[in-house]
Amino acid sequence: MSILITNGRVVTATDDYFADVYIEGEKIAQIGKNLNVTADETIDAKGKLVIPGGIDPHTHLEMPFGGTTSADDFETGTIAAAHGGTTTLIDFAIQTKGESTIKGLDTWHAKADGKATIDYGFHMIITDMPDERLPEMTKLRDEGISSYKLFMAYPGVLYVDDGTLYRAFRKAGDDGTRICMHAENGIVIDEIVKQAVLDGKVEPRWHAKTRPTRMEAEGVHRAIAIAEVAEVPLYIVHLSSSDALDEVRTGRARGVDVIAETCPQYLFLDETYYDKPGFEGAKWVMTPALREAWNQDELWQGLMFRDLETIATDHCPFCMKDQKELGKDSFTKIPNGAPGIENRMSLVFNGGVVQGRIDLNRFVEITSTAAAKAFGLFPKKGTIAVGSDADIVIFDAERKETISIDNPITHHMNVDYSAYEGFEIQGFTETVLSRGRVIVRNTKLETRGGGQFIKRVGQGELLR
Ligand code: URP
Ligand code: ZN
Ligand code: ZN
Repeated sequence: MSILITNGRVVTATDDYFADVYIEGEKIAQIGKNLNVTADETIDAKGKLVIPGGIDPHTHLEMPFGGTTSADDFETGTIAAAHGGTTTLIDFAIQTKGESTIKGLDTWHAKADGKATIDYGFHMIITDMPDERLPEMTKLRDEGISSYKLFMAYPGVLYVDDGTLYRAFRKAGDDGTRICMHAENGIVIDEIVKQAVLDGKVEPRWHAKTRPTRMEAEGVHRAIAIAEVAEVPLYIVHLSSSDALDEVRTGRARGVDVIAETCPQYLFLDETYYDKPGFEGAKWVMTPALREAWNQDELWQGLMFRDLETIATDHCPFCMKDQKELGKDSFTKIPNGAPGIENRMSLVFNGGVVQGRIDLNRFVEITSTAAAKAFGLFPKKGTIAVGSDADIVIFDAERKETISIDNPITHHMNVDYSAYEGFEIQGFTETVLSRGRVIVRNTKLETRGGGQFIKRVGQGELLR
């Protein structure tokens, strides 16, 4: 099968030009003006942007958490992602404490295999790492799992102590892989939470009030110090506050190999969402919590000056009915997480490019290329170049939509609310190709399934 995309404006992290893109099978075969080729199908992209498929390096599909399981699985979640212009995601496999990480990986392969519409990889969440288990990390790397996530938060669930952090960091560094860190001092936060509950402060807004930004900053500071000594590249996930960003800046200025991710929720939402009437604030109970609005300008600055390198969603949807409701009597029982996998590209385009904060190249970089480079997917993914996978989004920079649970064009996620209800955005994904297959055409799903597990490579290697 061959496809010719004509007349589009091709934008990558570094380039911006008008050209045709010719796809043979799964790969981009030629790029040029007025290409003299015959294709099985021609797609006219006149007036549209032709950009690399988005890469969302932080999602939680079918994740058991908070006494329930996140509402999107690999079928519904990857379809929603595709509609939003994301063609690759990196989800998280979880090691059950005391058990093999390889077993955890097998469990997540079984969840995804044959269900996904877009390509995917896994980070491995490490919940314990005694010396005798360290060789598993080399095996994981050889299986294409070239990054790990560890938690300073959620004591008794996913939390690990600093000794475990150091052991895992050392081994990951030796193996040429990367560490992702949920950086928040969960031990102190648990004490603050305990006191709040004793004082009868149990409404959703206390979730935010019991998680100070200083405890996020402390976690980031500690993670950077440990990574520096252990000599491992570090990636701070879901960074939410100016205090935490300052620590990243300080570490980078010192020469530490640390990059950081933020998420649309921290760029566009703020802690006043918890003050909505009744139990509605539960929709935004996520960790880290939404912050005071002034933090948003600081995060945009971080994106402009490259102290923040990627925007992921941390998509971890729980329905209000039966799931968020588990915490009706106390915020401590509300499953942590919110939906967003479908809205990322439009939100960032609107808030970034349309509002004049970043240019088109930086938009592509923070939604695709930088994640490909950080996580061993580049140049197979994350760019439009001869030899790269034909993961391409035809994006209408002028089209306006209102994000809503009631707008079938903006909501395919399997969750009963939108975290961005009523947001008016400019910039919308129209047609999406995944490895040369049209999976979404003019906003309609055309192909279901066919997503593949991608074996990622280590730091400094290229994936072809
Ligand atoms: O609230 C969140 N972020 N839930 C997902 C788990 C995590 O910490 O990323
Ligand atoms: Zn986390
Ligand atoms: Zn997460």
